Amino acid sequence: MRHLLSIADLGADGIEEVLRVTDSFVEVSERAIPKVPTLRGKTVVSLFYEESTRTRLSFETAARRLSADVMNFSVGTSSVKKGESLKDTVETIEAMGIDAIVVRHGSAGVPWQLADWVDASVINAGDGWHEHPTQALLDCYTIRQRRGSLDGLRIAIVGDIKHSRVARSDVLAFTALGAEVTLVAPPTLLPPSLEGWPVEVSHDFDGVLPKVDVVYLLRMQKERQTEALLPSLREYTSGYGLTRQRARLLQDDALVMHPGPMNRGVEIAAEVADLPSALITKQVANGVAVRMAILFLILGSGGDLG
Ligand code: NCD
Repeated sequence: MRHLLSIADLGADGIEEVLRVTDSFVEVSERAIPKVPTLRGKTVVSLFYEESTRTRLSFETAARRLSADVMNFSVGTSSVKKGESLKDTVETIEAMGIDAIVVRHGSAGVPWQLADWVDASVINAGDGWHEHPTQALLDCYTIRQRRGSLDGLRIAIVGDIKHSRVARSDVLAFTALGAEVTLVAPPTLLPPSLEGWPVEVSHDFDGVLPKVDVVYLLRMQKERQTEALLPSLREYTSGYGLTRQRARLLQDDALVMHPGPMNRGVEIAAEVADLPSALITKQVANGVAVRMAILFLILGSGGDLG
C-alpha cells in the first residue's frame, strides 16, 4: 500500500487485510510493553490543519508503538500563520526527510494534492466533508470484534450526514463488507443528492431503532453549518437524539457507536453513552491498533510485524 486516501481505493479485500493485520497489533497493544521495533528509522509527520484530539493522538501513539519518529506540526504555531502556502509547507517538511504524512485539512481533496506533490506516503486523517478512512476502518474493526462479521448486519447512521466525512467513509466500508445501511436524518442534514449511495433513507428514527444491529450517531457539526438547518438543537434531539427512552427500542444486543467528540445531551443522552452496549471508548482503543496496521502496511515494506 502506498497511500491511504479513500476507503474506495481499498475495496472489500483491502479492508479485510487491514482488519487482519490489526488483530496482530491489538495483541501488541495488550503487552506489558506495547512497543515493537518494526518502523525504526522511519519518520511520520502529523500535519493537522483542523482540530483533533483522538485522531492525532491515535496516529502519534500508533507511530511511536512501532518505534517510528514522530514530527508534530501545529498550524496555530507554524509559519502558516505568516501566510506560507500548503505547497511550500509540505515541501519544507519533506526536505527534512520524512516517510509518511498524516494530514487533516478542512478542504476536500487535499490529501490527493499532497500525494501529487511529495514522494512520501500520504494518509488521509479527514479532508473536509469528504472522507475519513481510518475512522471507518476502526469502526469496521470494532463491529467485527463484537459480531464476528459485518455481512448482513443492519446499521443506521444517524444525524448530520451532510457535513460528515465519517458517514461517507463508513457507508463505503460498511456496505463493502456486506452490511445494509440506513441513513436517518432530517432532510436538511442529508446531502442534496444521494445518487450512487448504496443506502436507504429514513426520517423515522423510532421506526428504525428496533430493526438495527448497530446505531451509529454522528456529532452535530455546528462549525460546518453556515445556515440555519435546524429549528433548534432541542427539536433535533426530540426527533433524532438517542435519548434514554429511545434506547429502550433497541434490541438487547444492539451496539451504540459514535466517532467522538460527543455532544452529550444533543445526539446522544449522557447515560446512553455510558451503557455497556456503547462502544465509544472501544472505538478509540481500536483506533490505535488500526492505525498501527495502516502505518505497517504503508511503511513496513513487507517485513515482520514485530
Ligand atoms: C470526527 C472528525 O473529525 O471527522 N471525529 C473523529 O475523527 N473521531 C467527527 C467529528 O468531528 O464529528
